[in-house]
Amino acid sequence: MKRVSVLVAAVAVAVPVLASPALASGPTFSADVAPIFQRACQRCHQETGIGPMSLVTYDEVRPWVRQIRDRVERRIMPPWHIDRTVGIQAFKNDFSLTDAEIDTVVRWVDAGAPEGNPADLPPPIDWPPASDWELDSMLGQPDLVVSSTPYTVTANGQDQWWNPTIEFEGIPEARWIKAAEFKPSYPLGVRVVHHGHVRLQQPEDDFVVRLAGMGVGKRWEVLPEGVGKLVQPGPAQVRFSLHYFPVGETVEDDVVEVGVWFHPRGYQPERVTEGEVRLLIDGTFTSGPRARDLIIPPHGYLTLEHAYVMDRPVMLHSYRPHMHMRGSGMSMEAIYPDGTRELLSSVNRYDHNWQIQYIYEDHVQPLLPKGTVLMFHSHYDNTVNNPINPDPDQWVLFGARGVDEMSHAWVGMTYLEEEDFAHLAAEREAAAASDNGR
Ligand code: HEC
Repeated sequence: MKRVSVLVAAVAVAVPVLASPALASGPTFSADVAPIFQRACQRCHQETGIGPMSLVTYDEVRPWVRQIRDRVERRIMPPWHIDRTVGIQAFKNDFSLTDAEIDTVVRWVDAGAPEGNPADLPPPIDWPPASDWELDSMLGQPDLVVSSTPYTVTANGQDQWWNPTIEFEGIPEARWIKAAEFKPSYPLGVRVVHHGHVRLQQPEDDFVVRLAGMGVGKRWEVLPEGVGKLVQPGPAQVRFSLHYFPVGETVEDDVVEVGVWFHPRGYQPERVTEGEVRLLIDGTFTSGPRARDLIIPPHGYLTLEHAYVMDRPVMLHSYRPHMHMRGSGMSMEAIYPDGTRELLSSVNRYDHNWQIQYIYEDHVQPLLPKGTVLMFHSHYDNTVNNPINPDPDQWVLFGARGVDEMSHAWVGMTYLEEEDFAHLAAEREAAAASDNGR
């Protein structure tokens, strides 16, 4: 304390002008940190976002700087759990911080978190109301909205499920889905809906389409250019599958809405997509390891693996691992027909509190020829080293509650005709060759 005050006094008396240039060379909130927070934090940390506090103004940020330094330096915030050292790294929705940005935030906090000159602030972002569709700013209001029936989530207790089936008169003509969003109610629904999905089905026609899937941190999906998902006309059932988790407050009559945006009438997509497909690693409904084989001993680890053989060429556009509280990582690897292996993506810091979808940039979407094996490895950590382990003394078995375990990956998949595959693969090769030539 004493030394500091002496120094400041000495500087103030002897060379007052030198003090500010030295400080001004370090990062300030207004000039350097606010732009980072706008890009990477405020989506959740603004007045109506899902984050616990707003990080918009200097006054709002100032009390949190120690926690911010800690979460940012350890890459806990923003939530982004992909291994940055292996696999594909170009994502459409990457809001993680670069090493340089982390360095800026850390240096700024260490220098006393100076505000700087408010004139340097970037123009504020006008965040849309949290009760509105997130896709509204991009696509306007949805063409179709279906709602779940009300469900009251109790204040305390364990996981709760609500799977209502809604009779739906249907749309008058076949349409192709371009985007869909899953919107829990605001302000309480967004806190209790952990994940869910909704399907439209016409049992007599054997027709099913998954309209939307949601997990904390992932509410919507916009399909890649030229790709569509078909909805047939006519009466249908809309089946919701909602997984709620209580937050200490009763949520009366929660209703989830699902919005669907269609391609224009008469549109014919170049490719038909399956959208996000659930690939099971715990083998619940397949011939892999059976559910009863998912047993994790107290203070132990477990790795499961499962392989899928692609019986047609396929393009992948997204990857979203799903496990529960003991889940610690999941990787997706391609073993090509010639035997070469490529680790496509690895989430090595999985956190059950988040269900992030990693959406590949168009030019890196994996193109897998027929016969490729898609190999998944899921890892569980039931030790004290897992920060969200509720009780490492317990045996953990397969089950639907957050304290039980499961394992699957939601993978955005579009099957391709052989010709289309050859064409896309050639395009990719040509682009790579011209990059190398540069
Ligand atoms: C996708 C939404 C989202 C983004 C983006 C996000 N956060 Fe968070 N943040 C949350 C939520 C939800 C919590 C509370 C739960 C938790 O701690 O995981 C939280 C918690 C925190 C905490 C801990 C608060 C406490 O109670 O101690 C800090 C600090 C924080 N965030 C800072 C940031 C910073 C800085 C950024 C950007 C660099 C950021 N967050 C980006 C959603 C987000």
